[in-house]
Amino acid sequence: MSQPAPNSAEARDVLFHLHSQTNSQAHAERGPLIMDRGEGIHVFDNQGKRYVEAMAGLWCTSLGFSEARLKRAAAEAYDRFGFYHTFNHKTPAATIDLAEKLCSLAPIPNAQAYFATSGSEATETMVKLAWIYHAVHGKPGKRKIISRDRGFHGSTIVAASMCGMPRMHREFGLPLPGFLHTLCPDPYRGTLPREGMDDFVARLAGSLEDMIRQEGADTIAAFIAEPINAGGGVIVPPEGYFAAVEAVLRRHNILVLADEVVCGFGRTGNMWGSQTVGMTPDMMALAKGISSSYFPISAVVLGKPVQDALAEMNKGGEIFGHGFTNSGHPVGVAVALEAIRIYEEMDVVPHVRAMGARLRSGLDAVAGKSRIVGQVRGAGLMFGVELVANPATRAAFDIGLKIGARFDAEALRNGLIIRPMGDTIAICPPLIIDEAGVDEIIELFRRTLSTVEQEVEANLLAAE
Ligand SMILES: Cc1ncc(COP(=O)(O)O)c(C=O)c1O
Repeated sequence: MSQPAPNSAEARDVLFHLHSQTNSQAHAERGPLIMDRGEGIHVFDNQGKRYVEAMAGLWCTSLGFSEARLKRAAAEAYDRFGFYHTFNHKTPAATIDLAEKLCSLAPIPNAQAYFATSGSEATETMVKLAWIYHAVHGKPGKRKIISRDRGFHGSTIVAASMCGMPRMHREFGLPLPGFLHTLCPDPYRGTLPREGMDDFVARLAGSLEDMIRQEGADTIAAFIAEPINAGGGVIVPPEGYFAAVEAVLRRHNILVLADEVVCGFGRTGNMWGSQTVGMTPDMMALAKGISSSYFPISAVVLGKPVQDALAEMNKGGEIFGHGFTNSGHPVGVAVALEAIRIYEEMDVVPHVRAMGARLRSGLDAVAGKSRIVGQVRGAGLMFGVELVANPATRAAFDIGLKIGARFDAEALRNGLIIRPMGDTIAICPPLIIDEAGVDEIIELFRRTLSTVEQEVEANLLAAE
C-alpha cells in the first residue's frame, strides 16, 4: 500500500497489532485490509469495497455475516446474565439445553458435552480425556497421540504439536515429544505411480500399524483426524480409508478422536464430517459452525466409556482438574442454540448438497477450460482447487512463483475472498449461500484464474 497517513487505522495497526498467521515484515510493508461490516455472504472493507466472503471467514461463519437472530439471541442472553460459569456444580440453564442438543445430534451414543471457547481447547481437552481413559484402564503409559501430515488442530502447544504442518512447529521447537504424525491420505499427491486406491488405503493403514508396532501400542493413547482436512488443502480421503485405519486402531486399543471443528454442522453435506467419510469417533471436537463464530464457543462430545473412566478416576471424591473460565458461557450457548435452530429450520444438509453440487459443477467447468488446474476436490460446501504447472503430469509450480499468493491478490482485486494453501485455493462459503451467490463465486473465480493463467503463460511471474 502507499504510505499510510500518520495516526490512520492502517498505521496504528502496523504499530500496535500483532496478527495471527501473518508475516510481520510483509504486514509492515503492505498494511492491513481493514474490514468494516458484513451483509449475508458479503463483507465490505473500510473503503466501501464489497467482497464475496467465499471462506466464511476462517471456515466458520456458516450463517453469513449479518444474522439478526444470532444477534437477538445474544442480546436476550445478556439481558439475563453477562456471565456465569460451569465450575463446582454450577451452570447457566441454557448450557444444559445446548449440552442435551449436541448429544442428541452427535453420532456418539449416550454422549455428554463439555464446553470450551476455542477449537484448540476442544482438541486439547480430548487429549486429556484420552489420557484419563487409559490410566483408568491400567495403561498410564498409553499417552502418545498420532495425528496426520497436513492435519490442523489448533495453535496452543498440544494442539499445535498435533498439527502436521512445519509452519506450526518451526519457531517453537514443536512437536512436543510423544506427538507423532502418520501419512496424509491425499489421493492426488500421496499415491505411488500406478498405485490403485485400494492399494493406497492398504498402504496408509499398514504404515500406521508399522508406526504403532514400532512405538509400542501400549504407549499410544489416541489418533486424531479431521474427517476432511481443511487447512491442509481440503483433502478428501479415499473411500474406505477410515474403515481401514479404525480397524488398525481398534486392534491396538487406541481411541479415535474426530476434529469436527470445520466439518461439523453441515459443512460436508452431512451434519457431521464423520458421516461423510465413515468415521466412528469416541470423542469429537466442535467449534466454528457451532455458533457461526458469532461467539467464541467450542465443545467436546464424549462417549460413555470416557465418562465412566472419568467417574472411576475420581471415585475418591477428587475433581476433574480441567476447565476454562468461559466454558459454557450463557451468551455463547444461547447463540449456539439459535444457530442450531436455524440450521434445522433451513434444512441445512440438503441445502448444502444442492449448493455444493452447483458450485462443484461450476468449478469443474472452469477447470475444464484451464491449463493450470490439476484437481477440483471437496465435499458439501468445502472445496480445494489445486493449481499446477502441468495437469497431465501433476507437476507443481516452482514454489518461488507463489501462484497461490498471486491468485489470492488477484481474487481480492476482483472482490473475492478465498484462501491460498500453497497453490491450492480453498473455497468454503457461508452455508446460507444461494444460487446467485454460488454463481457470483464461480464467475469471480473464473475471472481470477484467467488473469493468473495469462500471466503464467506470458511468463510475467518471476520466481523469487
Ligand atoms: C480443524 C481445526 N481444528 C482446530 C482448529 C483450532 O480452532 P481455534 O482457532 O478456534 O482454536 C482449527 C482452526 O482453524 C481447525 O481448522
